Amino acid sequence: MRALVTGVAGFLGSTLAETLRSEGWDVVGVDAFTSNYDPRVKRANLAALGRDPGFRLVEADLRETPIAPLLEGVTHVAHLAALPGVRPSWGEAFRDYAEHNIVGTQRLLEASRDRGIARVVVASSSSVYGAPDRMPTPEQTLLRPLSPYGVSKLATEALVSAYRRAHGVPGLCLRYFTVYGPRQRPDMGFYRFFEAARRGAPVTVYGDGGQTRDFTFVEDAVRATVAGLTREAPACAYNIGGGHRVALNEVLDRIEQLVGKPVERRHVEPQPGDPRDTSADTTLARRDLGYEPGTALTEGLARQWEWQRSL
Ligand code: NAD
Ligand code: UGA
Repeated sequence: MRALVTGVAGFLGSTLAETLRSEGWDVVGVDAFTSNYDPRVKRANLAALGRDPGFRLVEADLRETPIAPLLEGVTHVAHLAALPGVRPSWGEAFRDYAEHNIVGTQRLLEASRDRGIARVVVASSSSVYGAPDRMPTPEQTLLRPLSPYGVSKLATEALVSAYRRAHGVPGLCLRYFTVYGPRQRPDMGFYRFFEAARRGAPVTVYGDGGQTRDFTFVEDAVRATVAGLTREAPACAYNIGGGHRVALNEVLDRIEQLVGKPVERRHVEPQPGDPRDTSADTTLARRDLGYEPGTALTEGLARQWEWQRSL
């Protein structure tokens, strides 16, 4: 089996590619090394894969590169390339979100038609829900994103659905809920909090810190992705969450314990587009993908800290 992993140099993509290789897949990875954070960090994510003869990197931008050659011999696709991040997606930046997340996805799906590809797994996000009526939130809930980023992921999902229905492209969306662990993006909360704690600098908390997230350990998200590639899965979209809703204040308490130092918390206004709470109903993922989150927050935070302190 040969997988094409898009966004392979990123947090999730590089971890997925390593897992697929360890399970005997050939992997072709594509990445444009975009500037949402330092591309040197992305190169470092590929250090081990770069020495692996079963892995091939193609540096290309899905917004414009011819996609058919990337799909030569490919049996499965994991499409993780996107511009992530909820809060920076307002204003002029939305053009980039639209191009990377919507146009990039449409070009990949178009090229995947009539190729006999077994599955195209596409990264979606808890951000498609916005402020849902139900917690934990089942997939059938009305999707009303609060941020332009969430809107771009809603459009991504709609494209997957259209190509599935009209052209039989076997697409499947995974709605990941705030993923953390080794290689977390440097713009994300936990990474910033550990860095601040290490330097003795204050952290900026958006709002009162009482917001909750269904934080998901990266290995759980990756295991769900492998299952998404390989298992029978009738639904169009699956929630992938960590199994517990935890308040940011509680995370900061645990980070203080791990680092062994108090962290000064500077509270500023809640950020537009940030949902107050997220909580994944994973009934469908458990049933169809055999999904079972395996890493609790305490252990997952320790794993992220172990990695981050070694940088
Ligand atoms: P990341 O930024 O670390 O990885 C994305 C990678 O895609 C980057 O290496 C980037 O260079 C590449 N890329 C972007 N646009 C591209 C293009 N046009 N052509 C080729 N490569 C391109 O982000 P991540 O946190 O690993 O997220 C991976 C995916 O999962 C994204 O689709 C993101 O929206 C989604 N997601 C992430 C989280 C999370 O908590 N990290 C949660 C929900 C959904
Ligand atoms: C994350 C990813 O960045 C998105 O790409 C993804 O789509 C989304 O998860 C998702 O689940 O769909 P987010 O939940 O905002 O988005 O993740 P973090 O950046 O780690 O933020 C977590 C919480 O910490 C948020 O409430 C945020 O407001 C807060 N935060 C973050 C702060 O208070 N201060 C910071 O400096 C950073």
